[in-house]
Amino acid sequence: MKKVAIFASGTGTNFRNIINDKSLNLDCVLFVCDKPYAKSVDIAKEKNITSFVFNPKDYDSKSAYEKDIIFMLETYNVELIILAGYMRLLSADFTKKFENKIINIHPSLLPLYKGANAIPQAYDDGKNIFGVTIHYVNAEMDSGEIILQEKLTNTENLTLDEVTENIHQLEYKLYPMAIKKVIDKL
Ligand code: GRF
Repeated sequence: MKKVAIFASGTGTNFRNIINDKSLNLDCVLFVCDKPYAKSVDIAKEKNITSFVFNPKDYDSKSAYEKDIIFMLETYNVELIILAGYMRLLSADFTKKFENKIINIHPSLLPLYKGANAIPQAYDDGKNIFGVTIHYVNAEMDSGEIILQEKLTNTENLTLDEVTENIHQLEYKLYPMAIKKVIDKL
C-alpha cells in the first residue's frame, strides 16, 4: 500500500472518490486543508484520517506554513501528494523537494484555461472545448508534465451546470486512472 496525502480546499468530492476506491490500494495517512470550515474537513473526520488543517492568516508567510506541512508529510512517510481542489500555489522550494511526487487535477484541457474558474471561462468562450487534465506539479500554476487528459465536448447545448456535472463525472473516472499510472512508477 502506498502512503499518500490528499490536499483539498473545498467540497472534497474527488477526495472522497479516491479514498473510497479500494482498487487503488492507497493508505491515505494525511489530509491537508487550508480552509478550516471546508466540507472536505468533515470527510477526513468521518473517515478517521489524520488531518492538518490550518489558516494561512495565522502564519507570517507561505514558507512558514509549508514548513509545518512538510513536517507532517515527513512524520507520516508520505510517498505521493495528491492535490484534489487545493487552491493554493505551492512554492518552488516545496515542489522541488517533492519533485515528481505531487499530482493535481484541473478541470480543463490544459494548457487551456489555467487557474480558478476554468469551467465557466471555457463555457463563456463558447469554443466548446472542455476537458480534465491530471498533471505533475511544479511551481507554476497548472503547468507540470501531463499524466492523463481527456476531452469533452458540449454537442447538446448543455447549460453551464450540466457541463460542470459532466466534467466532475469525468474527473471521478480519470483521477483514479492517473493515480494508478503514477503509483506504478513510484
Ligand atoms: C475539481 O473540479 C478539480 O478539478 C479542481 O477543483 C475541484 C475540486 O472539487 N482542481 P471537489 O472539492 O473534489 O469536489
